[in-house]
Amino acid sequence: MAIATMTTPLPISFFPFLLLIPAICFTICDANSNLLCIPSEREALLKFKNHLIDPSNRLSSWVEGGDCCKWIGVVCHNLTGHVHQLHLAAPLSPYEQSALGGKINPSLLELNHLSTLDLSNNNFSSIHIPKFFGLLESLTYLNLSRAQFQGAIPHNLGNLSKLQYLDLRGNDLKSKSLHWVSGLSSLQYLDLSYANLSKATDWLQVTFKHPSLLELHLSACVLEDDPYLISVNSSKSLAVLDLSWNSLSSVPKSMFSLHGLVSIDLIFNSLDGPIPDYFGNISFLEVLDLHQNSLNSSIPNSLYSLNHLRFLHLSSNKIKQDISEILQSLSRCCLGSLESLNMADNQLSGHLTYQLGQFKNLSYLSLAQNNISGPIPSSIGELSSLKYFDVSENQLNGTFPLCFGQLESLVTLDFGYNLLEGVVIETHFSKLTRLTTLKASHNRLRFEPNSSWIPPFQCQIIELGHWHLGSKFPLWLKFQKELSSLDISHVGISDVMPTWFVNLPT
Ligand SMILES: *[C@@H]1O[C@H](CO)[C@@H](O)[C@H](O)[C@H]1NC(C)=O
Ligand SMILES: *[C@@H]1O[C@H](CO)[C@@H](O)[C@H](O)[C@H]1NC(C)=O
Ligand SMILES: *[C@@H]1O[C@H](CO)[C@@H](O)[C@H](O)[C@H]1NC(C)=O
Ligand SMILES: *[C@@H]1O[C@H](CO)[C@@H](O)[C@H](O)[C@H]1NC(C)=O
Ligand SMILES: *[C@@H]1O[C@H](CO)[C@@H](O)[C@H](O)[C@H]1NC(C)=O
Ligand SMILES: *[C@@H]1O[C@H](CO)[C@@H](O)[C@H](O)[C@H]1NC(C)=O
Ligand SMILES: *[C@@H]1O[C@H](CO)[C@@H](O)[C@H](O)[C@H]1NC(C)=O
Ligand SMILES: *[C@@H]1O[C@H](CO)[C@@H](O)[C@H](O)[C@H]1NC(C)=O
Ligand SMILES: *[C@@H]1O[C@H](CO)[C@@H](O)[C@H](O)[C@H]1NC(C)=O
Ligand SMILES: *[C@@H]1O[C@H](CO)[C@@H](O)[C@H](O)[C@H]1NC(C)=O
Ligand SMILES: *[C@@H]1O[C@H](CO)[C@@H](O)[C@H](O)[C@H]1NC(C)=O
Ligand SMILES: *[C@@H]1O[C@H](CO)[C@@H](O)[C@H](O)[C@H]1NC(C)=O
Repeated sequence: MAIATMTTPLPISFFPFLLLIPAICFTICDANSNLLCIPSEREALLKFKNHLIDPSNRLSSWVEGGDCCKWIGVVCHNLTGHVHQLHLAAPLSPYEQSALGGKINPSLLELNHLSTLDLSNNNFSSIHIPKFFGLLESLTYLNLSRAQFQGAIPHNLGNLSKLQYLDLRGNDLKSKSLHWVSGLSSLQYLDLSYANLSKATDWLQVTFKHPSLLELHLSACVLEDDPYLISVNSSKSLAVLDLSWNSLSSVPKSMFSLHGLVSIDLIFNSLDGPIPDYFGNISFLEVLDLHQNSLNSSIPNSLYSLNHLRFLHLSSNKIKQDISEILQSLSRCCLGSLESLNMADNQLSGHLTYQLGQFKNLSYLSLAQNNISGPIPSSIGELSSLKYFDVSENQLNGTFPLCFGQLESLVTLDFGYNLLEGVVIETHFSKLTRLTTLKASHNRLRFEPNSSWIPPFQCQIIELGHWHLGSKFPLWLKFQKELSSLDISHVGISDVMPTWFVNLPT
């Protein structure tokens, strides 16, 4: 950085004196020619450091007289030398006591150009978020997540009109009102997860009509149903909405007029009754996660108009429907787009149909813990992106389809606790080179591969309890070098335990 050449241009009449400059520079400028740091800002940083507790001496480079622009965590503007960013997040290593603590000195206000302040993952266990943060008016990014701050969120933060990112996730905070958030007129990203907002009954009015907000996370904020049912002039910008782990018993109606929404997370609430029809109004929805609620009856038809849907998780509810009907309907809206479907732990019945094989982008499928019967359709062999397949704890019967062996991407295969019968042969696994989890206990299957068979996979988990594996210890297990869990109980082995078996890594 050629800062030394950037000195103020001298008037021409000073020309003779120019000859002197190289001489002076030799002694002064040279030592400092790369020194970008502004002395008053260096002093401010040192004062800030002096009030911190730094048990692992992370700030050891912060010393008197040094170039503060080279200190760890400090980023200066490369021309002006002003401190622009402070990256002081503690590394998340359980073995390292590297969290900063103590007090936060208002000397930070000297840093007039500070735009990024990251103090995440530290341990300011005894203090509140300082009110004076509301005076750091150049801030565009403030990250205080998981830093053990306590108490009320200072409303002064609402003065930060340039702030785009505010992350206060995972502290022990509370707020009686979110009115201050409307002052953050440039805000795009807000995360107040784990703050107690039970008294902030205006949370919805403020956040749903914020004109620039793109992403809102209010997970585990003790939110209850909106008592006012007020219709707001809804945000058109809000794209990502996370209201998981709250106490909502119904979906706030004004959510359905947030037409920009792409992702909705409402897991672990108390939603009951049928799934609201109105989700169909949010035309560009890609992600809908309603896991762990008490939603009942069947999926409303309006949901099948969402033809951008990639991710549909309705697991752990009380949905009562025929799975073939769901697959039929989903095939009309989302055949190409659907990547993840989780309907585990509901009350689904009926049979799987050939349509399942047509969701070409499907990589995650769980239908576990339902009451689905009939065979596993062989069309599943066409799901070339499938990584995770779980149909455990159903009533599936018939034989295990051979074309399963084609699923080259498969990592997890679980069809345990069903009623499949017949003979499994090596070809059933022929291309499953990425498989790490094979759970299939409690089926009536027989598997006695050629004694020279070497599995194409290295599994960590193999569960084949109650299969018929022959009377000898299955030799192919010898090649499973990564096993951490193995269930081959009740499989008919009556053999002396071979040494290679004792040496398995489980
Ligand atoms: C200063 O940084 C900007 C980008 O932030 C870069 O484009 C520019 O080249 C840098 N200037 C110098 C002198 O390093
Ligand atoms: C934070 O510091 C306090 C006291 O200094 C201590 O009791 C607490 O265990 C620390 N918390 C973590 C997560 O390190
Ligand atoms: C805040 O910091 C945490 C931990 O350092 C990080 O995971 C998170 O993504 C950051 N938040 C934003 C909005 O960048
Ligand atoms: C900052 O916010 C507080 C509380 O919201 C308010 O009382 C104060 O007037 C604001 N200060 C400025 C300079 O806007
Ligand atoms: C949240 O705060 C309210 C009072 O403001 C309190 O009654 C409640 O116990 C708190 N809830 C949690 C989970 O901390
Ligand atoms: C919505 O905006 C219109 C005009 O911009 C205004 O007249 C109306 O009062 C607003 N409604 C609400 C509920 O804020
Ligand atoms: C959903 O869309 C329909 C048709 O456009 C409309 O009549 C209805 O009011 C909308 N519902 C909500 C809750 O926005
Ligand atoms: C669904 O749940 C609601 C509320 O708990 C209940 O009133 C209704 O009878 C349930 N419907 C069905 C079909 O189970
Ligand atoms: C399938 O998924 C890929 C990424 O996984 C995506 O790029 C592509 O657009 C998806 N196809 C459709 C039809 O949505
Ligand atoms: C499961 O489905 C069978 C018919 O396939 C039915 O007889 C049985 O009652 C169902 N069980 C439950 C728990 O719904
Ligand atoms: C599967 O079970 C049903 C009754 O639940 C029975 O009618 C059918 O024959 C069985 N299919 C096979 C292949 O065992
Ligand atoms: C077992 O596999 C080997 C090598 O692939 C083959 O030569 C042999 O015939 C097979 N034995 C049986 C019983 O299939």
